[in-house]
Amino acid sequence: MKAYRSSLLRFDTDSRQAIFDQDGLLVVGPDAEGRQRVVAAGDHAALAARFPDVPVEHLPGRIIAPGFVDLHIHFPQTDVIGSPAEGLLPWLENYTFPHESRYVEEAHASELAPVFVDELLRNGVTTALAFATSHPSSVEALFAEAQKRSLRLITGKVLQDRFSPDGVRDETEQSLIDTETLIRKWHGVDRLGYAITPRFAPTSTPEQLRGAGELAARYPEVWIQSHVAENLGEVEWVRQLFPEARSYLAVYDEYGLMRERAIYAHCIHFDDEDRALMRDRRTAAAVSPTSNLFLGSGFFDYASADRVGFGYGLASDVGGGTSFSPFHTMLAAYYVGREGQTKQGISLSPQELWWQHTAGGAAALGLAGTIGNLQPGCEADFVVLDPQATPMLARKTQAAENLDELLFAMIVLGDDRLVERSVISQAL
Ligand code: GUN
Ligand code: ZN
Repeated sequence: MKAYRSSLLRFDTDSRQAIFDQDGLLVVGPDAEGRQRVVAAGDHAALAARFPDVPVEHLPGRIIAPGFVDLHIHFPQTDVIGSPAEGLLPWLENYTFPHESRYVEEAHASELAPVFVDELLRNGVTTALAFATSHPSSVEALFAEAQKRSLRLITGKVLQDRFSPDGVRDETEQSLIDTETLIRKWHGVDRLGYAITPRFAPTSTPEQLRGAGELAARYPEVWIQSHVAENLGEVEWVRQLFPEARSYLAVYDEYGLMRERAIYAHCIHFDDEDRALMRDRRTAAAVSPTSNLFLGSGFFDYASADRVGFGYGLASDVGGGTSFSPFHTMLAAYYVGREGQTKQGISLSPQELWWQHTAGGAAALGLAGTIGNLQPGCEADFVVLDPQATPMLARKTQAAENLDELLFAMIVLGDDRLVERSVISQAL
């Protein structure tokens, strides 16, 4: 076992409220399988006597917090960040597809996988649900790198067998064979998980969507990820391609692609029937605010999501998104919350924003109690934050008079400099 003494941030599992110990102790140790988990977390004075022989690393002035969960990110779009376009569809055509086509080369995918994982960890992201490309080689490269680093990572081969250029378009039958082969090879190996990954409804034939849904039924433990209702042009395109469907989201439901462990990015242009469908199918949204602001897609409607009651968490959506940093994403979510789709904005609290990017993301993945928190039993993935990392951070965090002020200072001023270290749970 090992202990860390510093300030400690974690979440009450029921209320979503943050719990903060100014002088805290985090004790970690291996479970029966050798996986490092949280043994105890709380106030140092209350806990220390229970662990007299455990070596303690003292981190004065630091804050230990749960590792961040990124619910939606694109591995092959690491170098697409900051590519301007009129909107989603020209951005895909002019930047994204050309970049992704290079991942057919194994050497390219293997070169970029450590760059991507390094960037996640530098920014404090310890779990990601990531798109790869349509080439199995991109999935292989990312899984291999994550396995090497003990990272909890979920990814999958993108399915896109129509309206996609040469170089990224796949072939219906082979794409489903490749998906199943990858599921059998990687899902549940160490900390890795597979996600069935139709890019979005317009770029899959009905046959490919049907095949994806059949795999989703056959492998209920496997995740599903896609995009929905991001952009008005995209919504109209889906309406023309699937005229019989009640809505864009309903297309996925029709093909068996809405269930627990399904995560849909964006979920902006929804009505209440869509929201109720999300709730009833126990499907969650990956809210991607920097992407939505950058591509001019719209604003996730937090108030309506909560009124109807479906799950969601935060995501970077790099490279539509502009940053790997969870602090940038939380700040953008705050702006989006203020706006609201109907200008009925709400002011998301810093505790709520932080929850959405940690324990909330974990809950959306069906991994509450496993990751995203530092309660006993959770896997020991955490970040060590240095609130003095920049002059302004030092001034504002020192002046903070309560937890909300402290968390807001970090959300507004923080970036990768705030993350001194990301610690990944190892298997001994
Ligand atoms: N819709 C289909 N593909 C993509 C993608 O790569 N990024 C975003 N933001 N939306 C998409
Ligand atoms: Zn995306």
